[in-house]
Amino acid sequence: MKVLVATEKPFAKAAVDGIRKIVEGAGFELALLEKYTDTKDLLNAVADADALIVRSDKVTKDVVDAAKNLKIVVRAGAGFDNLDMAACTAKNIVAMNTPGQNSNAVAELALGMMVYMARNTFQSGTGTELKGKKIGIHAYGNVGKLVAHIAKGFGMEAYAFDPFVPADVIVKDGVNVVDSTATLYSTCDYVSLHIPANDKTKKSINYELLSKMPKGATLVNTARKEVIDEAGMAKLMTERTDFKYITDIMPDNHTEMQQFGTRYFATPKKMGAETAEANINAGLAAANQIVKFIKTGDKTFQVNR
Ligand code: 3PG
Repeated sequence: MKVLVATEKPFAKAAVDGIRKIVEGAGFELALLEKYTDTKDLLNAVADADALIVRSDKVTKDVVDAAKNLKIVVRAGAGFDNLDMAACTAKNIVAMNTPGQNSNAVAELALGMMVYMARNTFQSGTGTELKGKKIGIHAYGNVGKLVAHIAKGFGMEAYAFDPFVPADVIVKDGVNVVDSTATLYSTCDYVSLHIPANDKTKKSINYELLSKMPKGATLVNTARKEVIDEAGMAKLMTERTDFKYITDIMPDNHTEMQQFGTRYFATPKKMGAETAEANINAGLAAANQIVKFIKTGDKTFQVNR
């Protein structure tokens, strides 16, 4: 039984060591493909793999077709928009994620990004404080919940919109519930995005919605670039010299966005889940899920049902 860890952006060594211990401890073989730059390397590496662990690596139909023995693929992380679900399902391959395992790292980065923008990207000049400001959590999942918790520690007033989470669950955390994105965006000085990228959400954060945000507002994106209508964002930032955007996923129009100086920032490479803790949590969870599935058929965390 061969488990392949294919990570263009590798896990910390401690995470790889932990994965090895779990995989080899179960009597399986571990193969590593790290920092690959050519998809051909992934296609070759998956050829004889029974199980696959990836991060944001794209598991396309080509990858699935090349993986003749593949039974399970685990996205060590939350968002699984990088997995071709139809291709996996068609070949009876179980696809899983590891929800919650890297959430704290992403939530801490979201708050760090807010401070960075509130303090003029650490350049000279008078900034503002987060205390007393309103934060809108767009989707109250594992990350959104933690962002609300940390933001309250800063003295922020938290609001959330999530049609899939019962209002009482959110209220219990001391977070105000709103019933529409329009209300969330028009109410909050900061909006932190935690929605997945799918057919319904792609380009949904558009000019009309962003225009509703109050003067001096900041949008924080630690989710996915695909949810932003990039042309609408550039138009808004041209018209609204008070508006700020910080993102952990470099947009396709990054060069154009740089004209906005300290009102715009994109991390050079997505770093939300780039902590030793998150790597260990997500990597080990992925390995454990694979061992449990192979040994007992356990399909908890399957996302292609
Ligand atoms: C996730 O969906 O879990 C995060 O976006 C982290 O992605 P990464 O593993 O590519 O850093």
